[in-house]
Formats: sequence, structure tokens, C-alpha cells
Amino acid sequence: MDKFVIRGGNPLLGTVRISGAKNSALPCMAAAILTEDEVTLENIPQVRDIETERRLLVSMGAEVELGYGRAQHRTKICCRTLSDPEAKYEIVKTMRASSLVLGPLIARCGMARVAMPGGCAIGGRPIDLHIKGLEKMGAVITQEHGYLEARAERLRGAHLVFDKITVTGTEDLLMAAVLADGETLMENCAREPEVTDLAALLNAMGARIEGAGTSTIRVHGVTSLHGARYRINPDRIEAGTFLIAGAITGGDLIVANCEPDHLGALIAKLEELGVRVDHLGPDSVRVRSEGHLRAADISTEEYPGFPTDMQAQYMALATQAEGVSQIKENIFENRFMHVQELVRMGANIKVDGKVATVRGATRLSSAAVMCSDLRASASLVLAALIADGESILDRVYHMDRGYERIEEKLRGVGAQIRRLGNIFTPRDEESAVHSD
Ligand code: EPZ
Repeated sequence: MDKFVIRGGNPLLGTVRISGAKNSALPCMAAAILTEDEVTLENIPQVRDIETERRLLVSMGAEVELGYGRAQHRTKICCRTLSDPEAKYEIVKTMRASSLVLGPLIARCGMARVAMPGGCAIGGRPIDLHIKGLEKMGAVITQEHGYLEARAERLRGAHLVFDKITVTGTEDLLMAAVLADGETLMENCAREPEVTDLAALLNAMGARIEGAGTSTIRVHGVTSLHGARYRINPDRIEAGTFLIAGAITGGDLIVANCEPDHLGALIAKLEELGVRVDHLGPDSVRVRSEGHLRAADISTEEYPGFPTDMQAQYMALATQAEGVSQIKENIFENRFMHVQELVRMGANIKVDGKVATVRGATRLSSAAVMCSDLRASASLVLAALIADGESILDRVYHMDRGYERIEEKLRGVGAQIRRLGNIFTPRDEESAVHSD
């Protein structure tokens, strides 16, 4: 198991470049299932989940090139022959976003067999809303032996209203609707930029989608889609993580290659704390702090509200703010796994149900801590960057799922961090682990 060794105390100074968004790349790679032509995606992040998605598509019969040369970060996917439209459990259990192949497989092949993703560290992660929407579009879905089996001659357009806002549910059903017979009206959709990214790719492939990025999406079904070349958006969660890294270390950091418009809720909260944030142009933001932060509450909401994927990182920062910060997690039922590890480093945090109460500012001391999920890992890295002494973070493979070469990027702006074990490179055949 890889570990990070981090010595705290260095302010982050300089410029860090953000990679492509993992949570855009995953649905966009699945969208290639919808056509026999080649789909080329640029700005793909070099992270473990993308490698997992490559293995998943190849296991179904797709040809997938994944290049990470200096100028590349590109994947070319051709699903001309999908000999085995099945997402097997040994892959799905390592990445529950594998369920994103469900809609496109039914739309393209008329059938799909997908392992139920099961839960993960942060919650039960059901996909009942995906199933409900597909059944309303005419799919016949049975569940047994831990697998979903779905069949449909041809999906038909329908009026779908999501009981809850679901990001991958919106994406899965969007990909089902583009080849359906007739029009699909989807309401109470997720508005995340990753949904907008996927819709832009699908329209470039010949789909007819209106309203992506709003809560109401209208899809006019077409009979086939063609290939396309598309550039994935920057990762707003990686960008947000580095903004907090610059603030928590009292640094002066430029976060480049990002999309400031996707960071509104976080930037507003940072300014409320007393952090200085300046937009330097269309794709970069400068963050500065000399400390003296003031406590501020957050409540996680669907986009454009404060993102749940930034909650753990914000909590690390809140330990350095004078006063009491109330952090309410509304999206997932178990997303406070980082709390006990932060407390072991000296933080004063009490959890009561959905609310974590952080009392600051507290000096953090280095410790040996355990990563439990992708964003909890980021929270522990941020805390270690300011803790006195040397912290050891275990199970950093969680981090590799969603942050590209994070230790190199942090070292590049002055952090004292090194990895014990092997750096992640594509084609790693890692032991299957449950993941969020
Ligand atoms: C996506 O997960 C992201 N993953 C998550 O990012 C992110 O935390 C989440 O959206 C919320 O923004 C990807 O895009 C690959 P949801 P998703 O469906 O789609 C409930 C990360 O850190 N729900 O929007 O799985 C669900 O239990 C990851 O990069 C149902 O009840 O999340 C949750 O409480 C972690 N039934 C809420 O909705 C369903 O059928 C929102 O979940 C689907 C979801």
C-alpha cells in the first residue's frame, strides 16, 4: 500500500496546472459505446479511475488507446464490436461509476448485464433512480446474483422526473435517451458541469440535447451517432483542492488551467473566511492568505451550491479559522470518515448526525493517519501540509483515483512530500478495493 510522507510548514508558492475532470471523463468514455465510430477525448487525467474505465470498456470488446505523453492525455475509443456487453463485478466493485455503462449499453446493444455497484466508504450509493428511469423508457430489468440484467428492443422517449437530484443518474439516462424513439423530457436533473460536458460531447456526436446544465433537459432521439473529438473540462474539485492548499498554508498560489466559473460557491466561502482570491483571466485564479481566518459555516448542496466533494477539504481549512464552523453534509450519509483522523492530528471536531462542528483555530501536529476515500485523503494531505513535523498517510491509492500525480504537483509549489511505494502509472493491475 502506497504511503505519503509529508513535512508541514511550507507555504505553497508559484503556479499549479489543473488536469482534466475525472467525473467528466468517465461518462464521456462511456458515451463512446453509443457509436461504431472512433471517439477521441483530450485532456484526460492520468488517474486510476480512468485506467479502470479503460479496462471495463476493453473487457466488453472495445478498442481503447490511452496515451499520456507530455502533450497527450488523450484517449481514442472504438466500440465497433461490443462482444460482451457486461460490466463484471471485479471491475465495478473498484469503481461504482461503472454503472454509467448501463444506459449506453441498452441504447446501443438492446441489452446490458451490469454488476450492482454496492456501497462504498461514503454511503450506500443506490442506483434505483437509474433503474426507474430506464424502466419508464421501456427497459425490462431483473436483478439477481448481484447483477442487473436489462433488455429493450429500442428504448422509447419518456417524461422522467428524478425523485432526487443524481449526477450519474442524469448522465446515464441522458445517454439512454439520445438513441431512444421519440422525445425524452427529463426534470429535476443534476446541473453539474460534468453533465454539461457530457451533453456537449453527445451533441458533437450528432445527438439533439437542449437544456443541459439546467434542471430540465429535452432530448430528441436520433437513430445513430457518429464519432467525435472532444476536450474534457478542467477538474473543478482538483482546482478547489489546490485553492484550499494555497489558503491553508498561508501561501500565494496561482491555480492555472481551471474554470473559475465552476468554483463560485467555494470562492465565495473562501472570501468569507478572509482568504484573498483574484481571477487572473479566463482560466486561472490566484489565492493568497496570511492566516487570521474567520470561521464560516457550509452546507453541501447540488451544483451550483457548495460541492460535497469539497466538504472534507474545507473541514481541514476550518480547523485554522478562529471560531466555530458548522459543516452540514446533505448529500451522502457517511462522508465524515476524515473527522477522526483530523482529530488525531489535534483538530477540535464534534459530529452530530449530518453536522460536524469545528472549533478553531487549532495547531495540528503530525501523525500517522489512514486514508479512507478519495476526498478524505485530500483533507488529510491538506492538514499534513500545515502540521508540525512529519505525517505518514497510508492507503493513498484512494488519492490516485482522482488526483493526477498530486505529490509532483505539490512539490512543484514548495510542499515537502514524498511517496513510499510505487507511483501510479497506467496499466497498474492493482488489487481490487472497494471505492467511492
Ligand atoms: C457523482 O456521484 C460523483 N461521481 C461523486 O463524486 C459526487 O460526490 C456526487 O456525484 C455528488 O456530486 C461521479 O460523477 C463519477 P449522486 P453519484 O447520484 O452520481 C442518491 C468523487 O469524489 N441516489 O448525485 O453517484 C445518492 O445515494 C465522487 O469524485 C439515490 O438515492 O452521486 C446520494 O445520496 C464521490 N438513488 C445522492 O442521491 C440513485 O439512483 C446524490 O448521489 C442515485 C443517487
